[in-house]
Amino acid sequence: MPRRILVTAALPYANGPIHIGHLVEYIQTDIWARFQKMRGHDCVYCCADDTHGTPIMLRARQEQISPKELIERMYAEHVRDFLGFDIAFDSYYSTHSKENRICSEMIYERLKQGGHIAVREVEQAFCEHDRMFLPDRFIRGTCPKCGAADQYGDSCEVCHATYSPLDLRDARCSTCGQPPQQRRSKHYFFQLGDFTDRLKDWITGGRVHAQVQNKLGEWFDQGLRDWDISRDAPYFGFLIPGEKDKYFYVWLDAPIGYIASTMNYCKQAGRNYQEYWCDPATEIHHFIGKDITYFHALFWPAMLMGARLNTPDRLTIHGFLTVNGEKMSKSRGTFVMAATYLKYLDINYLRYYYASKLGPGTEDIDLNLEDFVRRINSDLVGNFANLASRSITMLRKSLKGRLGKLTEEARAMLKGIQGESEAIAGDFESCRYAAAVRRMVGLADEVNRYIDRRKPWAAIKTDPEHARQTLTASINAVRLLTIFLKPILPGFAGRMEKIMQIEPLQWSDTLVLLEDREVGEFERLIERVDPRKVEMMIEESKETQPQAASGPTELEKEPLAEEIDFEQFMKVDLRVGKVLKAEIVEGADKLLRFEVDLGGRTRNILGAFRQAYQPEEMEGKLVVVAANLASRKMRFGLSEGMIMASGTGDKDVFALWVDEGAKPGQRIH
Ligand code: MSP
Ligand code: ZN
Repeated sequence: MPRRILVTAALPYANGPIHIGHLVEYIQTDIWARFQKMRGHDCVYCCADDTHGTPIMLRARQEQISPKELIERMYAEHVRDFLGFDIAFDSYYSTHSKENRICSEMIYERLKQGGHIAVREVEQAFCEHDRMFLPDRFIRGTCPKCGAADQYGDSCEVCHATYSPLDLRDARCSTCGQPPQQRRSKHYFFQLGDFTDRLKDWITGGRVHAQVQNKLGEWFDQGLRDWDISRDAPYFGFLIPGEKDKYFYVWLDAPIGYIASTMNYCKQAGRNYQEYWCDPATEIHHFIGKDITYFHALFWPAMLMGARLNTPDRLTIHGFLTVNGEKMSKSRGTFVMAATYLKYLDINYLRYYYASKLGPGTEDIDLNLEDFVRRINSDLVGNFANLASRSITMLRKSLKGRLGKLTEEARAMLKGIQGESEAIAGDFESCRYAAAVRRMVGLADEVNRYIDRRKPWAAIKTDPEHARQTLTASINAVRLLTIFLKPILPGFAGRMEKIMQIEPLQWSDTLVLLEDREVGEFERLIERVDPRKVEMMIEESKETQPQAASGPTELEKEPLAEEIDFEQFMKVDLRVGKVLKAEIVEGADKLLRFEVDLGGRTRNILGAFRQAYQPEEMEGKLVVVAANLASRKMRFGLSEGMIMASGTGDKDVFALWVDEGAKPGQRIH
């Protein structure tokens, strides 16, 4: 009996591009969905952009476009990147859609009717300057526990303490730098605790991996607290029914996006979404990263229970991607965008590599770039692709491309491969892709040994029919292995189907063997990885330094100084000065001391030019001097004015020279 299966991957935020970390998940899920389809199940893979919330609103503001323009642009980029990686969604939709609004309202109303929504006043940080309540992540200040400066409003990255933003010392709005006020406002809460017993039931029965079940146990022990599902205007999201300036928190409508995307699929396919979300015969399978477990293992099933909809049957939770054993990093160039990868490398490499590392647990997975090159070149190119190219090329060249009959010995060898089919299927089903890949590599090794034993390249001259038998066996083996590889490498499998002139392979085709037929011209299946391309990709990722997917960047967080008007600016009296003398200041590693002629007036000036210029270089030159600056007593003496320069300091300092024709003391406008 075919199963009806709905598969989802988490909805990526619409405020940043897709990167190779995200791709762990979208590839993992794609492999699973493709596998189920090949098995003949009625399986659909739905996803969408997650478009609401404060970071998206602020990013749009910063780019001076509307949130809608921003999410439309990101949508197009995401779709393009996913297509590039052969991620075959049946529906890729948006949480900013009519379906999602209607569904969010419907679920909210049902929760309310069920008595699961509470209303309470809460006190919260408010920025007068930006006229908005500040989410915890948009408040920075000093950690109340360890005193570390510049920490987030909810947790400290130095001592890992978590706290309320109200306890943060010296709190500031991270957008404008002003201290926030405390304001009261009405909020809506979802009473998660109402579902404790049902959730405890729900998480048993193999729905989540044992590792996750332990984590959930801890959360149950702490007790399930009410969840604040509302946010005050200004906010980019859906208005709460009956309110004019209160919105659903993004995490309320985000998972409902799974339903909206299903609706979008159903509209195109002429089906009814209730098949998926109301008929308990359907299996719902979510793939997510470990960071969003709480939302998917507690809030989301509880919302669905309260709304009398199907709850998920399985949650597969993966760990985070590390590169060369470390967190992805922009400075090291390992924060690689999907689009950058596509410029340099074949997607089959990454799909294969991730598959060869993925299991059902939540351990982080490491992309070691050296191992990546080695493994692709030895297994994928050296083993699988080489097997195909050797056999097919020889058959075409010397035997007119015709397969012969399989001998008993060949059948026995192929039976060994066919016999692994259900074990490999079991590995895919339970997300043990690494184990599936290991089995495939083992089988390909065996076939290579079989060929080496039978030496068709020698037999072709003395006993061509013997060679034909060998190649018929090995090409059948290649075809069987292609079936197993197909969920991981659909593009590679597609090229193989074309060469072999066969219909798209299904899992049940493992039962079929080919004899007495022609095989088409060989085409290159995959190139070796060129390590220089990997380097180029890393280099480019260093240069572009794309913005972080959440929150403002360090520079944007630094507030601007108080505004000055033009009059004030023009009060600075800039004059041409002639450097009469320049010398090193003993004990100061940044300063030079200058004697500057301002046309009859000689000034003593100290300036931070030491790392950028030799004193001799500056003597006799004409410079720009801020001449009406009050004298300052510094540690190394009195400074009467300032020599103007550009640059950020230290070595990066460029004195503003004036053409030799100018006169000392002349005014600069
Ligand atoms: N928008 C939410 C999900 C809402 S689902 C109703 C979100 N978006 S995200 O863009 O930050 O992440 C999308 C998925 O990618 C998440 O499952 C997340 O765990 C995963 N990953 C993001 N970065 C990752 C790595 N560096 N490594 C592995 N997976 C990562 O969370
Ligand atoms: Zn502010």
